[in-house]
Amino acid sequence: MDHFELRDGRLHCEDVPLDEIAEAVGTPVYVYSAATMERHARVFRDALAGLEDPLIAYAVKANPNAAVLATLARAGLGADIVSIGEYRRARAAGMPADGIVFSGVGKTADEMAYALRHGLCQFNLESVEEAEMVSAVAAGLGLDAPVAFRVNPDVAAGTHAKITTGSARNKFGVPYGDAMAAYARAAALPNLRIQGVAVHIGSQLTDLTPLADAFAKVGTLIARLREAGHAIGHADLGGGLGVPYDPSLPPPPSPELYGDMVRQATRGWDVRLIFEPGRLIVGNAGVLLSRVVRVKPGVADPFVIVDAAMNDLMRPALYDAWHEIEAVAPRGGRMRANVVGPVCESGDTFASERDMDAVSADDLVVFRTAGAYAATMASTYNSRPLTPEVLVSGRDWAVVRERLDVESLIRADRIPPWLERPPLRDAV
Ligand code: LLP
Repeated sequence: MDHFELRDGRLHCEDVPLDEIAEAVGTPVYVYSAATMERHARVFRDALAGLEDPLIAYAVKANPNAAVLATLARAGLGADIVSIGEYRRARAAGMPADGIVFSGVGKTADEMAYALRHGLCQFNLESVEEAEMVSAVAAGLGLDAPVAFRVNPDVAAGTHAKITTGSARNKFGVPYGDAMAAYARAAALPNLRIQGVAVHIGSQLTDLTPLADAFAKVGTLIARLREAGHAIGHADLGGGLGVPYDPSLPPPPSPELYGDMVRQATRGWDVRLIFEPGRLIVGNAGVLLSRVVRVKPGVADPFVIVDAAMNDLMRPALYDAWHEIEAVAPRGGRMRANVVGPVCESGDTFASERDMDAVSADDLVVFRTAGAYAATMASTYNSRPLTPEVLVSGRDWAVVRERLDVESLIRADRIPPWLERPPLRDAV
């Protein structure tokens, strides 16, 4: 459930009509509902009822906006981070250091040192080489690094190939068969405190079976690690639960069903469980609000050209992702159209042959389910301003990221000294 609904013929985010935001801020603009995020955080926590003090470490990469993080910090969430940039954002938003899990295959020594000095729940290590590096960094600082290994359980997640992470050919994690040896090696290294096991097999999962298979493997591994003398107190089960994008498809399993599966899969583990949901918390809490520039006839269906483009919302171009498209003030008619942006690439297509609300030039539209992996993946390709973001809470709303305008983009560039000289033809 989200808080975007038609009232008196106008689409609202909570109590704010979206056309009011479009008039004041311009388009394209991302609009987020605080109540939806808070609700999703609560629903996920409730679904985990009965588990011993689980840590919900929100995957910051899904939406790292400071106001989003501050909303989720108040809802009691920690953070799953993959860079010191994300670490600093999480801390600045009020997330506690001991609620921070540091994931990622390419952590540098500097990043490890920063996290160690400022505190964290644990590093999720993805290789023995990484364990050696964090041991050396921790020894240099005279600190102990709390660590878990992320294991790659080699299960097929059944999601888009670009967001699958738990099969043997992916770059992620220690191969399941090598895990015992990895822990033995880590136990022999100084300044490491081995405390857990982690797994994350992919994103936008619409079936619980691969997750249950992966968790079963983690359970077996925990037992074997304990037999080998390792103290395993944490199991990090990652994120990945999908959200509905296309209303014509069956919805992904609910958080309640996920919680039931987790309770069953982890029975008797005797660990603190960690979860890293991203999309589930913020996905349906955001829309990309855009204005139709013009409608151009096509060979079959017309092209609805909007002022948002692939640089604002990459997901359709990158993953063939479906985002539902709705008019902000629907007039009741329907049309079949190709919805495209102004960028000079055929890939700049949000939808082909889409059955949608009839729209014409100057109408406002929204791309739904644009709270996760959307604004954060935006770029300034084609020298387009970086998309602003707005957070709504009840009748209040605020710009929570300004539009990075063309002047600031030009200002960030530098002309090297040899180009400051006048061109030859002017010099003579
Ligand atoms: N934990 C780890 C280690 C991850 O790599 C990810 C996502 C998550 C948690 C959160 O997964 P979620 O609950 O959000 O599914 N840009 C892509 C998604 C990339 C996901 C990367 N890792 C998209 O737009 O679909």
